[in-house]
Formats: sequence, C-alpha cells, structure tokens
Amino acid sequence: MGRCPSCGAWGSMSEEAAVPPRSTGGRGGPSATALPLAEVAEDDATRDPTGIGELDRVLGGGIVRGSVVLLGGEPGVGKSTLLLLAAGAFAATGRTVLYVSAEESSAQVRLRADRLGMLETGVLVAAERRVPPILELVEQHRPGLLVVDSIQTVLDPDHGSVAGSVAQVRDCAGAFADLAKRTGVAVVLVGHVTKEGAIAGPRVLEHLVDVVLTFDGHGDGGLRFLRATKNRFGAAEEVGCFEMTGTGLAEVLDPSRLFLVDDPLEAPGIVRTVTLEGPRPLAVEVQALAAPSDLSTPRRQPTGIDPARFALLVAVLERRGGISFRGLDLFVSAVGGVRLREPAADLAICLAITSSWCDHALPSGLAAVGEVGLVGEVRATPRVEPRLAEAARLGSTAAIVPASYDGPGHGLRLTRVRGLAEAVEAAFGPAPATPLRLVSGARGG
Ligand code: TYD
Ligand code: MG
Repeated sequence: MGRCPSCGAWGSMSEEAAVPPRSTGGRGGPSATALPLAEVAEDDATRDPTGIGELDRVLGGGIVRGSVVLLGGEPGVGKSTLLLLAAGAFAATGRTVLYVSAEESSAQVRLRADRLGMLETGVLVAAERRVPPILELVEQHRPGLLVVDSIQTVLDPDHGSVAGSVAQVRDCAGAFADLAKRTGVAVVLVGHVTKEGAIAGPRVLEHLVDVVLTFDGHGDGGLRFLRATKNRFGAAEEVGCFEMTGTGLAEVLDPSRLFLVDDPLEAPGIVRTVTLEGPRPLAVEVQALAAPSDLSTPRRQPTGIDPARFALLVAVLERRGGISFRGLDLFVSAVGGVRLREPAADLAICLAITSSWCDHALPSGLAAVGEVGLVGEVRATPRVEPRLAEAARLGSTAAIVPASYDGPGHGLRLTRVRGLAEAVEAAFGPAPATPLRLVSGARGG
C-alpha cells in the first residue's frame, strides 16, 4: 500500500513478517521475582576507557562492558573515522577489537586506517552485512569491543525484508543487544540520520540501546560536536569537541580559542557572545554587515543562526529599536562555522546588527548575553555565570547581561539591562550619531 489508511502519509508502510507466538511468558512460563531495592545485587558497571578522551568524557568515563552505544550523524560527519580511531586506541591497550563494516570494503577501511596512522594497532576488520556471520565472528574472536558500521546496512537474510527497513533495523539491533548482554562485549552501532536529523529507523532503536550519541558538524568548519542524548551510565549533557583535519579527527580541548583572535579588531558589526554546548561555554564572535542593496527585496542572510530567529530579531529591531533596514542587505554570521542555537545569543546578534547599521564599533572584546523578547525586552538567560567566566578568560573586559542576573562578574565590567534600548546605550555610550539617537529615543515607546 502506498499510503497509510490511518494517518494518510505516503510511503510510510513497511512489510513485516509474521512472528509465531512465543511459548514462554504465559501460564506455565518461568515465574518472576521482586526484591526490595537494597537487596538487589549491585551491578558494578565496568568501564573501559576507549583511549579517546573526548569520547570517554561523553560516555561518562569509558564504554561499559556489555552495553550498546548508538552513534548517529549525517553522512560525512566522521562517524566511521571516530570509531576507527576509538577501535585503534582500544586495541592499543591490548584488547581485541572487531570492526565490522557493512558499508565499505576491508580495503577501504584499511586505506582510512592508513591515513589515520593506525594500521599496526591490530584491529580486526570484516566487511560483512549479514548478522549471523558477524555473531559467529564475535564468538570466534571474543572481542572486548565490536563496532558495526552501520545498523541500517546490516541484515538478517532469513528475515525477508530489505536492509534498513524498520523490521530489519529493529531485529538486527535486538540481536546485537542480546549479544552484548550475553557475552559482555561492548557494541557500538553506527546509525544513519534522516533529513530532519533523527536517527533513521524505528524509534524503538533508541530505547533498545544504552547510550545514544550524536555527532554533528558546525557548518563547513571542521569543528564537530559529540553529544550524549541518552546515557544510562552517565550524564546526558556532556559534549565532546573534535576537529576534522587532513590527518583525521583531532580532539579540541579549548574550542573557544579556535574562534577568537587574541587581539580582536575594533570594527563596526562585531560583538562577542558565549553560547553553551552542553555544560561547556563556547565564546563566539558574531559579525553583522548592513550594506546598501540594489535588489527590490534586499538579502537577509544569516549564517549559523536560525533564519526564523534572525527574522524575528530584525523585526524587533525595526519595530522596537526604530531602525529601518529598508534598502539594506543584512548579513549576520557566527564566526568559524559555529551554530548559535540558543536564544542567549539574541542580544549579541542585535548589537552586531545595530553596530554595523550605524557604522559605529563597539569596544573590542565586549561580550553580550541575553534573550531578546518580542517587545524588545532582554530576558533572563540560564547559566550566565559560566559564560561570563569564559568571556573573562578569553580577554573580555566588559559584558552586557540581563537585569535579572545577580551573580559575580568575574572581573568584567557588567551592565545589567532590561531592554534593547538600554543595551544599545550601554554598548555605544550616549548616542553619538543620528541613527543611534533614533534607537535610544525608542525607549519610551
Ligand atoms: P567518515 O568517517 O567517512 O564519515 P561518516 O562515516 O560519518 O559518513 O568521514 C568522512 C569525511 O571525513 C570525508 O569527507 C573525509 C573526511 N576526512 C578527513 O578530512 N580527514 C581524514 O583523515 C579522514 C579519515 C576523513
Ligand atoms: Mg561511514
């Protein structure tokens, strides 16, 4: 059937073979027991560090024996590279690692390993798509770590449906989860993502595994972030940072330093902000350019900023800030390919646009943090303090923050503001040029 008769979606139906009813579990099956919590035997999850610090940090200290990790990410983001590196580092500690590629030939994996300089680490490689032979290889070699690249391309030949189908993905993942519990091997599955960024296949996949990691890139820049969106053995908000280079993925311990120059330029249109990647503050420079346009519909071009958010902030500036962008192309970008997902960057975006519009530079290294509301108010923003600490560490001397912030300034000259107009005044000083006076004058109404 091409169309689901229930929800009306096209192409969402998939074939599934009938499964004979299970004999256990009903009457006469094994009985269940319940124990008070304190009497339940402790399960000391044994963690093995993979040897890649940023990966271990996100996993909560290492990979737990008998656990299943799912690593999702867009094509080309570096999933295979990261796991091959992890496999090499793991094998270098003397344990057996089996790397199964269902997407590439062994020779291709070898080529990549060669580029990464890890040919001699002793990682076992198999190019195999069928699940039963993979399970046999595990029985045969008893690895401490099994990597399967990817769960959408392996299949159970007896199953009947094609690889990547909902039923195949679910059942193959189930087979690997059973294997992990039974043999204590830690399994890492690579997962493809859909256009919307969700892991392809059934939702049950994410329930089935113990840890879900997502690996994503920031724009075209080489920076990659690894996040745990689910972790049964650790905090889910840790973030690891990598950079894709010509010779592989390098760990980045101080990502802020990648984007900020020590001696920032004092030019119109530049403001610094600090965004949070999980618990880690990341200082980013926001740049804006307002330039005369000869188009009947001038360009509005945000880079690294959600276009809807950008449009909203421009509208707030026009309506509440009294600025007219008519006849002007507007470009805003977060430098270095960073994606600013947090509303905390709003204030910096507004100030950068204003600064370029009136052609008036802000004090170099000025940091701004705060969400901007529809009426031009600057709203409370979570976790301002670590952001200020990061800005101060990277040489900022002053910061503009929401009025609600009552924490320490970490040596920064703080200006607390309630609205955009106050922020503009704090940033530029008393209106020096005509356009600015307009902005400040909008405070009353
Ligand atoms: P890959 O790990 O194959 O991505 P995925 O498995 O997520 O699809 O990484 C692919 C990209 O990484 C590829 O476009 C080339 C790049 N790359 C480097 O820049 N340097 C390297 O050393 C390696 C191995 C890959
Ligand atoms: Mg790959």
